[in-house]
Amino acid sequence: MKITIITGSAHKNGTTAYLTEQFIKGAEEAGHKIFRFDAAFKDVHPCIACEKCHGDAKVCVFKDDMTELNPHLLESDAIVLISPIYYYDINAQLKTVIDRFYANDALLHGGKKAVLMLTMADDTIESAEGALASFKGMTNFLEWDVAGTVVGVNCWTLDMLKKTDYPEKAYQLGKSL
Ligand SMILES: Cc1cc2nc3c(=O)[nH]c(=O)nc-3n(C[C@H](O)[C@H](O)[C@H](O)COP(=O)(O)O)c2cc1C
Repeated sequence: MKITIITGSAHKNGTTAYLTEQFIKGAEEAGHKIFRFDAAFKDVHPCIACEKCHGDAKVCVFKDDMTELNPHLLESDAIVLISPIYYYDINAQLKTVIDRFYANDALLHGGKKAVLMLTMADDTIESAEGALASFKGMTNFLEWDVAGTVVGVNCWTLDMLKKTDYPEKAYQLGKSL
């Protein structure tokens, strides 16, 4: 199976980066092929709703790093979204990439698995409800099958995350896809 992972955090050694590594370890052990796109280190312009991609041009007006990601998105059997919670939602870097899926809406519909992994400082899952709700709406719309979620509460820092079983859950999820 080919898997595209899109991360949002700018922390190269942060909590979500660690979950990402654990997921990749499990997925590679299971024989899956990974493409990883770290949105915080890429040039991705926010969608401006010009609708050119849905008009005659059929392509996005922005020629940025989405041109690197798009072929992988289209080919992949599974899409994995990984973000810290920022103000009760996924962070802007990841959301900017997701909004740009719009240019390929029709081609992205159906036939994919989806995973969401989140971390946050708060010790209640309620702080992730916004992110979980948009993931549910988006996967319903795109007709993707949700293969699993990992929501790391009380994980402000990497040390806090390492004391939990979330890394193991990420590893097992990667392995089970
Ligand atoms: C701008 C910003 C907003 C945040 N908002 C929240 C929040 O609403 N709820 C929460 O529990 N944690 C919040 N956090 C904490 C992060 O989610 C948490 O530290 C996370 O582990 C960071 O992940 P990373 O190390 O992968 O970047 C926020 C952090 C930042 C920098």
